[in-house]
Amino acid sequence: MAIDTTTYAVPLARTISDMREQVASWRAAGEKIALVPTMGALHEGHLSLIEVAKAHGATKAIVSIFVNPTQFGPGEDFDAYPRTEATDAEKLVDRADLIFAPNGSEMYPDGYGTTVSVKGVTNTLEGEARPTHFDGVATVVSKLLLAALPDCAVFGEKDYQQLLTIRRMVTDLRIPVEILGGPILREPDGLAMSSRNVYLTETERKAAGQLNVILKETADAITNGADLKTATADAESKLLELGFDKVDYLTVRDTTTLQPVEKLAEEARILVAAKIGQPRLLDNMPVEFRG
Ligand code: PAJ
Repeated sequence: MAIDTTTYAVPLARTISDMREQVASWRAAGEKIALVPTMGALHEGHLSLIEVAKAHGATKAIVSIFVNPTQFGPGEDFDAYPRTEATDAEKLVDRADLIFAPNGSEMYPDGYGTTVSVKGVTNTLEGEARPTHFDGVATVVSKLLLAALPDCAVFGEKDYQQLLTIRRMVTDLRIPVEILGGPILREPDGLAMSSRNVYLTETERKAAGQLNVILKETADAITNGADLKTATADAESKLLELGFDKVDYLTVRDTTTLQPVEKLAEEARILVAAKIGQPRLLDNMPVEFRG
């Protein structure tokens, strides 16, 4: 195969070797290369990560689009996950320099038997709710990083635990790639942008917009001295009253280890996962410490 420059307005690589060839020629020309891994169904949140890379000095951006089967658990939405490659490619015009969209067997060769598993930071929160999820993420991200060997790769704070997991993995495996975090992009009412927001009905969408408001109120109350347990329990009740079906967690954690914080003694992070209708919404933000 070769890089496909006719299907979309942005060049497209379907194989690792084609992507590597492109990366090698960029590198020879002194370009600084960024990789932005995604599962497609792109929105402004994804696109903002390209801007983070450019602000950091990247001169070429590769966006990978791969709905990674190994990070979905049984009964999750792997089959239903939106696949919108052509419109994704349109959104990337003038933003990305290469799309890497491999098929399943390019990423997982026949008979594959290797999994990357990160311990510690994955043992809680999303790791409890979705026990095989982070193995799938770590495995595919290590493959993507090794396939492209970019100078930097960008991940959103929207999936805060994922960002920490990837940082841990890259440090542990000594993968020579700088990991950058990008801030959460939000809809006008503050709902964190997500490819899964399309699953929300109109009524659910309205309630979903309150998630960030309640999270911010709770973070501020804790900063101002409210008892941590009471404040998070109140927030949980408010979400259930608003029509959320289930709150998996709403909790204040250490910024780097994600271990529970009993009493605010330095900046921490408040994280939530709550189900409303079909989707499970994630959000998080810092809890300031004023000393
Ligand atoms: P996906 O959900 O497509 O997200 C791709 C990247 O976009 C992730 O780094 C995610 O944190 C970031 N992102 C999503 N919504 C965002 C928002 N509102 N603001 C800022 N960044 C946002 O996360 C994955 O895919 C996969 O697990 C992947 C890393 C690609 C591995 O398969």
